Amino acid sequence: MADFPITRTSTPKPKPDEDNLAFGRALTDHMFLMDYTEGKGWHSPRIVPYGPIPMDPATTVLHYGQAVFDGLKAFRGADGTIRLFRADRHAQRLNTSATIMCMPELPVDIIRQSFDALVSVEADWVPRRPGTSLYLRPSIIATDVMLGVHPAHSYLYFLILSPVGAYYKEGVKPVKILASDTHVRAVKGGLGEAKTAANYAASLAGQRDAEKAGYTQVLYLDGVQRKYLDEVGTMNIMLRIGDEVITPPLAGTILDGVTRNSALTLLRDWGLKVTERPISIDEVMQAGRDGTLREMWGTGTAAVVSPVGTLGYRGEDILINGGETGELTRKLYDSITGIQYGRSNDPHGWTS
Ligand code: COI
Repeated sequence: MADFPITRTSTPKPKPDEDNLAFGRALTDHMFLMDYTEGKGWHSPRIVPYGPIPMDPATTVLHYGQAVFDGLKAFRGADGTIRLFRADRHAQRLNTSATIMCMPELPVDIIRQSFDALVSVEADWVPRRPGTSLYLRPSIIATDVMLGVHPAHSYLYFLILSPVGAYYKEGVKPVKILASDTHVRAVKGGLGEAKTAANYAASLAGQRDAEKAGYTQVLYLDGVQRKYLDEVGTMNIMLRIGDEVITPPLAGTILDGVTRNSALTLLRDWGLKVTERPISIDEVMQAGRDGTLREMWGTGTAAVVSPVGTLGYRGEDILINGGETGELTRKLYDSITGIQYGRSNDPHGWTS
C-alpha cells in the first residue's frame, strides 16, 4: 500500500451504536484528500482529520454541479478480515462518471490505494454486527472560483467513510414502487450513466410524489416515450418473467450498477436465461396480470437486492409473488452477502 502522509485527529469521536446505524449519518474520524491542478495533474494525497472543506461561495461545483461520486462497502467477516467488494470496478466507474462530466480521471491504482489506506486507518470503524458494513464515498468536485460555465481547471478528490446498518432492519423486505409517467430521470445523450449529483437531484420530486402516494420508490421510464423501464430510485431493476430474467440494457440512461453486474454474473453462473433488453411497462403490467411476472427486484450497493412486492402504474397495483420475497431474489441476496462477508467462496475474486 502507498505511504500517504497522515495527520491524526486529536479528538476521536465515540463510535455509534451498531444496532441503530442510519445510512450515512455517522462519519469516521479521518478523510482522504487529493488535489488536481491543470498542468500539474493530481497531487498532494493526504489523510487528515475529518472536517469541513472551506469553500469560496463562487466555487463552480456549488453552481453548476460538476460533481461525481461512487459508493462501495467494506465488510468485516466472521473471521475478522475486512474485505472491500469490487473496489476496482467502483474505482473505474468513478472515472467513467468523471469523463462524462468533463473532469480529469484519477489513476485507478491511486483510487484503490486511497480506499485501502483510509480503511486501514479507520479499521476500528468497520462495524461488527451482522448486516453492517463501512460505506466508502469517494467523490470528485470542481474547485475553480469563477462563475463562467465551462469545465473547471482544478478539482478535489475526497474519500469519506460511514458505518452503515442493513438497509432494512428486518433484512430483505418487499417494497412498493410506482412507475412514473410524469417524472423522468435521464434521457439518452444526458447524464444518466454518470454517478453525478444532478441525477440524484432529478430524482427528488418523483420520489416525493411517490411517497405522498404511499409508495417507497419510483420506477423511472425512458425519458422520450415514457414506455420502457429505466431504473428504480437509486437501484437497477430486474424481473423474472416465466423462466427468464430480464433487465434494461446499458444504453446510456442508466447506471452500470456493480450489484447489477454481480447479480447478472451469478444468474448466468447458475444457468438461468438472462436477457438485457428494453422492456415496456405495458409488457410488465400484462405479465403481472396474467401471472407470468414471478419476481421483481432492485439491485444497488446500499440495499444489495431489494424485492418489489407491489408495482403501481396509472392507478393499478400489481401484487408480485403475493407481495413476498421470491426464491431467486432471496438466493441472490444470500449469495452476494455471503461473498461480501466471506461466508461463501468468491469464484470471481470480487473481494479484496
Ligand atoms: C446505491 O445503493 O448504489 C446507491 O447509489 C445509494 C446511494 C446513492 C445512497
